[in-house]
Amino acid sequence: MILTSNDTPAADYRLAVDLGAIVNFDAADMPAYWEQHVGAFPRTVCCRVNPGGTFEAANGIIGTPEDSKFGMTVPQLRETFAYLRDHGVEEFGVHAFLASNTLGGDYYPRLARQLFELVADLARDLDIHIGFVDLSGGIGIPYDPADADRANDIVAIGQGVRRAYEDVLVPAGMGDVALYAELGRWLLAPAGALLTRVIHEKETYRRYLGVDACSANLMRPQLYGAYHRIDVLGREDAPALATYNVVGGLCENGDQLAQDRPLPETHLGDLLLIRDVGAHGHSMGYNYNGKLRSAEVLLRADGTTELIRRAERVTDYFATLDATEVGCRALTLAARWQADLSAELSAEPSAEPQLGALSAEPQLGAPSDDPHAQRTTHTPRTPYAAHTARVAHPYKTDGVTVTTVDNAGGDSKRKL
Ligand SMILES: Cc1ncc(COP(=O)(O)O)c(C=O)c1O
Repeated sequence: MILTSNDTPAADYRLAVDLGAIVNFDAADMPAYWEQHVGAFPRTVCCRVNPGGTFEAANGIIGTPEDSKFGMTVPQLRETFAYLRDHGVEEFGVHAFLASNTLGGDYYPRLARQLFELVADLARDLDIHIGFVDLSGGIGIPYDPADADRANDIVAIGQGVRRAYEDVLVPAGMGDVALYAELGRWLLAPAGALLTRVIHEKETYRRYLGVDACSANLMRPQLYGAYHRIDVLGREDAPALATYNVVGGLCENGDQLAQDRPLPETHLGDLLLIRDVGAHGHSMGYNYNGKLRSAEVLLRADGTTELIRRAERVTDYFATLDATEVGCRALTLAARWQADLSAELSAEPSAEPQLGALSAEPQLGAPSDDPHAQRTTHTPRTPYAAHTARVAHPYKTDGVTVTTVDNAGGDSKRKL
């Protein structure tokens, strides 16, 4: 186990020690920080190097380490290793992650050769024992089928790394150096898919499919315009004659899971399978706009399924709210809301939106005259009053607003 991190709090380092993990220092000032907050150095320490510049492979530039916040420069690495050597460290590792989601197979062999040359120099100049080189992640997958011809061949990559090892490390008398890899995306991304249903259609300057997932379930398209293949279930082989933007319901225009995407004609109620979300889907999920994260279902090779993570509930959303008066109140409302929703879900769904499925406690004040307004009331007994939850659709909730009433009588609403 290895802790690779930056901006690391001392508590994380102490936990890593307790767990017996190797620590990977990201910055040259980490040894001093370690001595101050953790204590003596372990026998083995790794450092993350960032040689700067650009990282070039046969098919062009595939990374710009100089723009990355991670790692230390080569001169800093030398100084850090010398310091650690003089303070009891006996075995050293070097780690680098210089390009992400690479295709074509060049990255690992090139990186390996560069790092092998570096550690051979360091071992000779500093008279230290290099225990391992960690090539980290960076081996990508072709999210877009148009890139399929550049898919990584993992066996060829392994052979390329072996050639570099035999060319550089073995002649340097370093044939005992271990190699580590930390492949995330390559292993996991194709193993996950996001299943979502079309709940709205809209046509303005583009054709929109509104789905019941959003960027809170899959952040990559919003974060960096990432492409994820989408299949319309039941029409996987139909010609893609229409062009859609597939959008979620967040109040962010960037909440678009695909833009200008050719798809077969798609209709309300259709299920879309958004592919390759295993590495950065649910794990990057968040709760913006009060969105609750979905369940996760394991699909086994024999076709059977198992619920391995239940969907978040309103009470989960409020669970971390502090036990202040307003927090307790919101939790009570959320629990009741959840119960009302469960009751509704087990009943026959009605076609019309149901406003006010959860109402404020009647004794605490009158609801607004506007039936579409969120209900707000306040109580004279406390400086806080919480109320208002409404169900805009039997299956969809759109958030709870807590109204805080300050002592001067002013109101301020906070969306929770
Ligand atoms: C330190 C480290 N190792 C490994 C990985 C996995 O990388 P990949 O998914 O490209 O294999 C990451 C991903 O961000 C990382 O930060």
